[in-house]
Amino acid sequence: MTNTPNPVEDHYTSRDLGAAILAALQGMGKDIDHLTPDDLAPVDEFHGGQRPATIRLAELLGLTGAERVLDVGSGLGGPSRFLAWRYGVRVSGVDLTADFVRIADMLTQRTGLVGKVDYRQGNALDLPFDDASFDAVWSQNAAMNIADRDRLYREMRRVLKPGGKLALQEVAAGPGGPPHFPVQWAREPSISFLFTADVTRAKLEAAGFRVVTWQDTTPEALESAAKRAGNATTTPPPLGTHLILGDDWQAMFKNSARNLGEHRTELFNAVLEPAA
Ligand SMILES: C[S@@+](CC[C@H](N)C(=O)[O-])C[C@H]1O[C@@H](n2cnc3c(N)ncnc32)[C@H](O)[C@@H]1O
Repeated sequence: MTNTPNPVEDHYTSRDLGAAILAALQGMGKDIDHLTPDDLAPVDEFHGGQRPATIRLAELLGLTGAERVLDVGSGLGGPSRFLAWRYGVRVSGVDLTADFVRIADMLTQRTGLVGKVDYRQGNALDLPFDDASFDAVWSQNAAMNIADRDRLYREMRRVLKPGGKLALQEVAAGPGGPPHFPVQWAREPSISFLFTADVTRAKLEAAGFRVVTWQDTTPEALESAAKRAGNATTTPPPLGTHLILGDDWQAMFKNSARNLGEHRTELFNAVLEPAA
């Protein structure tokens, strides 16, 4: 990896996040040397709908436990640890943000999942894995920071084994106009790249995928975002994604609900397989 500052990595990097997460857990009476993925879910499931959305996508994908899975844009590692813990799969995560990778490793040690999940810093546009390495490629709420979707989906296709599956949860552009900023993935438009669901699907097909299932999950996302926006007027609970987001977390929560409600953004789940 280069050391060139990246505006996306800057957006996701905040001071002392790992320490803040551990302090919050300790304040809640948790044994920080023996944590479970459930203890961490309020903060490490960093996407619309949080843990329930991860379960919905996992059920759509269908896992036997024998799969080797790649999580692209793995963040703090919540979804990957959960998949390893709940379904018994072996997961590798790759993420652009070095700080997230370090914290993901630290939380993995504290949940006793070393050997079942691993993380490395890397760019989704140049995945540091051989061709045909994974039975499943998984990604939740990472593509909206990535402009070159053609290359992203080609990379996902390249590392997938024949007969493998791609599972996506993504934010798409809606018909209501551009999003209100700040949002969780960007404080301003220069690092936000949304495409409509139709354009996204065409790009996936051009990269060599065939759609198995495509679900519009906007209603579920709006329900969850509206609840979070409603709670954002009061003091947040000790543990939550506000620890990642920084001082403008309330505006981000409110804009998430507003953008979904005004059809500026949509959310979808999709499972795809290599086209014959
Ligand atoms: C909103 S977070 C989602 C994290 C995780 N998927 C989850 O659901 O908890 C978006 C993540 O995508 C990562 N990301 C953005 N652009 C990336 C890129 N080009 N390559 C790898 N990771 C990227 C960010 O660093 C961040 O961790």
